[in-house]
Amino acid sequence: MSTDEATAGGHAVPADRPAALRALLARRSVAPRRLGPPGPDARALAQAVRAALRGPDHGKLAPWRLIDIEAARHGELGELFAEEKLRRDPLASSADVARAREHATRAPTLLAFVVSPRSGTTVPAQEQWLAAGAALGNVLNALDALGFGAIVLSGDRCADPVLKRALGLHDSEVLAGFISAGTVVQVPASARDQPLDRVWSTWGGVHPLEPASCPHADAASGPVTLPARCAR
Ligand SMILES: Cc1cc2nc3c(=O)[nH]c(=O)nc-3n(C[C@H](O)[C@H](O)[C@H](O)COP(=O)(O)O)c2cc1C
Repeated sequence: MSTDEATAGGHAVPADRPAALRALLARRSVAPRRLGPPGPDARALAQAVRAALRGPDHGKLAPWRLIDIEAARHGELGELFAEEKLRRDPLASSADVARAREHATRAPTLLAFVVSPRSGTTVPAQEQWLAAGAALGNVLNALDALGFGAIVLSGDRCADPVLKRALGLHDSEVLAGFISAGTVVQVPASARDQPLDRVWSTWGGVHPLEPASCPHADAASGPVTLPARCAR
């Protein structure tokens, strides 16, 4: 079997797979310290946003948005990160505060990813969250396909009301994380393998209910025979 240099889960990804699939199988997050200039330009970012808009999205609500933190404002955001760190931990060391500040300044490109659940729709909140997650995944995959490294990181700062307000979020919005992107200057190890059966099973027909959750369980104290599907 011929393979190329792309690897996923420690396995070489066969070269005969469609390129898009090989890219999906090989993508992995790249930490900000492994990223350098140049970051994706406006055209590349627009393609990533377009890919995000192609994610599955019930009702096409786009219950998310991206805020581009332009390079000229990375320092300003870094100060907000430092202030947030000190609000949360007034005894934080100067090294910890510097690390918080660096999170905004390390990668050439920084985007805030905001989940904006829409009200006045019959689409349940959990579906809107799934749509937002799919959009986020598409952003990361698109940046990878364009040749850039990227990662999304949240941390406690994302729950900070002062930071959220400074970024212009509404009360109903959630700051899900910050996407750092740039050119990979230090290649990370390939993605770790995960067993497929962790997430993939086959339905074997109607599931036997646990007696405690079986609608017939209360009657089981008397001489009652549980229906087969309620039996352990
Ligand atoms: C919304 C969101 C927030 C995340 N925040 C963090 C974080 O704060 N710290 C962290 O170590 N990983 C965080 N992650 C996970 C990383 O982005 C990354 O997915 C993980 O390290 C696995 O790497 P991989 O994408 O290469 O499999 C977050 C992921 C998501 C989707």
